[in-house]
This record gives sequence, structure tokens and C-alpha cells, in this order.
Amino acid sequence: MIKIVTIIGARPQIIKAAALSRAIKNNFSDKIKEVIVHTGQHYDDNMSQVFFDELGIPSPDYNLGVGSGKHGAQTAKMIEGIEEILIKENPDYLVVYGDTNSTLAGAIAASKIHIPIAHIEAGLRSFNKAMPEEINRICCDHCSTMLFSPTLTGYNNLINEGFNPENKKTFTADNPGIYHCGDVMYDNSLFFGSTDNRQRTTDIFQKDDYILCTIHRNNNTDEPKRLNAIVRALIKLSEEKDIIIPLHPRTKKLLNVNLDSATYDTFINNSRIHITEPVSFLEMISLEKNASLVLTDSGGVQKEAYFFKKPCIIMRSETEWKEIVEVGAAIIADADEERIIEAYHHFKDNDAIEFPEIFGDGRAAEFICNELISNI
Ligand code: UD1
Ligand code: UDP
Repeated sequence: MIKIVTIIGARPQIIKAAALSRAIKNNFSDKIKEVIVHTGQHYDDNMSQVFFDELGIPSPDYNLGVGSGKHGAQTAKMIEGIEEILIKENPDYLVVYGDTNSTLAGAIAASKIHIPIAHIEAGLRSFNKAMPEEINRICCDHCSTMLFSPTLTGYNNLINEGFNPENKKTFTADNPGIYHCGDVMYDNSLFFGSTDNRQRTTDIFQKDDYILCTIHRNNNTDEPKRLNAIVRALIKLSEEKDIIIPLHPRTKKLLNVNLDSATYDTFINNSRIHITEPVSFLEMISLEKNASLVLTDSGGVQKEAYFFKKPCIIMRSETEWKEIVEVGAAIIADADEERIIEAYHHFKDNDAIEFPEIFGDGRAAEFICNELISNI
């Protein structure tokens, strides 16, 4: 029996963790013991607890209750808490997901006390170091022992940074193993996506012809110029279609701070723009499946749009998921009003989009479990 300590903290990590926990429960319960540590980075019920209730993830064994804060203070509190737990639990691996401050904190705490790190979603790069996530993922990858990349692009990024694909087991931090293994988020979308989960009773949630939009990337929420341009584009697009926006708390708090007052009023009083609280994962994938187009700056939502064969407009200047742009299923429009509208019209006029399989076979979590076991 091996022991892993899994670090989660932000919404997408909790969702990703469901895939590994499910694989452990179904196929590896006699081989892997998982201890779950929630840093408390996300804490509202609709950003955290809802996913435990809905996705069958075991309750966290520890919750550090770190909450929100500046990058340094937040990450430091996490490192301190995670270190104590790692010393007590002495696991065979620390498992971290993605690129948040919780990921970075786990990687720093574990690497200093020589606990091997398994990084799920390794190798992704935006090549934009102004993003906090880019710093987090580079640091985490370079401390890791086993690096599981969801895409070939991610795998090749690691090779370009000096990781050797010829390394042989036993992998260590100085002899790391890299994998191209598919995406645990795809595992989840296949597993949970087979039913219609529109639990809401309001009319808008029952519609089949709307734009689904999410906005939370820090430069889009914090820079008034960008937020105003995005919202002006949404107001224009609402002349074409209804728009559903499950709003991240970060964005909600900044709308009336960073939007011009006339734009703010038009936005929130628009009968075709439906702003809601964050929704559960089952509701979210149902909204994705029934949307005609997805407009987002989220990494996870970009991919889920692809999984459910929906065109996607990316409100960022680049993406780590460049394959979906290369095949023509997504367009990078940045926070640029005109480019967003142009992208919308492109997809309106060209609906024959191909969605080749890029993200694995839906069994990435099982693959990862097998590799963790066989490296001991
Ligand atoms: C974090 C991640 C980002 C990820 C996103 C997923 C970092 C640096 N960023 O960004 O990579 O895409 O999570 O959603 O780790 N807040 C609440 N309630 C909550 C959580 C947050 O009100 O439950 C508000 C607080 O005002 C907080 C702000 O949202 O200050 C930002 O939260 P934080 O976790 O720092 O960053 P995110 O923008 O959520
Ligand atoms: N998501 C959700 N409810 C919402 C918005 C998003 O369950 O109201 C899910 C979404 O389906 C995806 C994940 O959260 O699985 C993406 O997380 P987020 O956009 O917060 O972060 P990112 O992926 O950009 O790091």
C-alpha cells in the first residue's frame, strides 16, 4: 500500500481531484491510500463544498483554512501548514494539480523535505510570466519527480526545458519521469457528462441557444480597460443571443469598482444577460453542453467547451491549450471588443468545426495511479 497526500485548494483542483479519487476507490483501494489536504484557498460553498457533495470526493482529512490574501502571504501560510502535515503523514508522494498558489505551496513544502512530487497537468505553458499561474507551474514542474502532461504540447514543453524523456525508473527529483497521459478533466467530463443536469428551474437554464461566459483571470478583472472592453462586447453580443454568466466571486467584487458606471448599469440591467452565482460542476457541464458558444478566460472551461464540441472564444492573449486553437475550435480574441465580436461572427458563419481527440481516452487517472504504484 502506498500513501499519497493530495493538495487541493481552488475550484478546478477540487474537480480534477474527483477523477483520481474515483480511480482509487474503484480500482486501487487496496494499493493506494489517499490523504486529502484542502488549503482553503477557495472557501465559499459554491466554490468548494458543492463539489465534494456532488462529485463523490472524500471529505478532506485536513483543511488549512488559509483563505484569500496577497500571493506571498497566502502561499506562505499554505507552505507552513502543508509542511507540518507532510512531516506527520510521511507519504510516498505529494500529488498536486495545475498551477494555483496551492500547487506552488505543496511543491515547495514537499521538495524541501524530499517527498516526491507528482504533478498532474504538468508542462502547460503560456510563455507569459506576468501570469501568476505560469510562475507556479514552472516552479512546480522543476521540483517534481513524476510529471503527467495532458497534451503532447505540454510534454514537448518539458523536453524543451531539459526534461529527458529517456529517464528510467526509479524516478526521483533529479531523475524525473515525464508522461503524455491525457487529461483527468476529460475523464471527468466523460464520466459526469452523460446526463442532463439542469437542476435550475428558471427559464434561462432550460434554453438551448445561448452564449455561456465566464471571467475570472486576474488581468481581466483587475485592469479596468480590459474589463470594460469585455463587458462592452458582452452588451453587443446580447443583441444576438442570451448570455449566461456564472460569475466568479473575484469578478463579482470588482464589477462596480472597475467598470465605467454607464457600462455597469447597462450590463447588470440587461434582460438578455443572466448573471448568476457560480454553479455546481454538474450544472456547469450541462450549461456547456447546451450552449451554442462559450466565451471564457478560464483554462478548464476552454477545454470543456472542446470536450462538448462547442466553439470557444478565449478572452486572453494566449492559451496553454493551443491545440484547440490550431484545429479551429477556439479563437484567441484577448480582451478586445472588436476581436470578440469578429470571433463570434466567424463561428456564426462557420459551424463545421472538427474536434479531433486530443485529451486522451478518459482513463488518465487510472494511468497515473498505475505509474505511481510502479515507481515505488
Ligand atoms: C485562483 C487561481 C487561478 C485559478 C482560479 C480558479 C492562483 C494564483 N490563482 O484564482 O489560477 O484559475 O483560482 O477559480 O492561485 N474569493 C471569494 N470566495 C472564494 C474564493 C475567492 O470571495 O471562495 C474572492 C476573494 O475576494 C479573493 C478572490 O476571489 O481575494 C481571488 O481568489 P484567489 O483564490 O486568490 O484567486 P482566483 O482569482 O480565484
Ligand atoms: N466551473 C463550475 N462552476 C462555475 C464555473 C466553472 O463548476 O460556475 C468549473 C468548470 O466546469 C471547470 C472548472 O470549474 O471544470 C474551471 O475552473 P475555473 O474556471 O475556476 O479555473 P481555471 O480552469 O481557469 O483554472
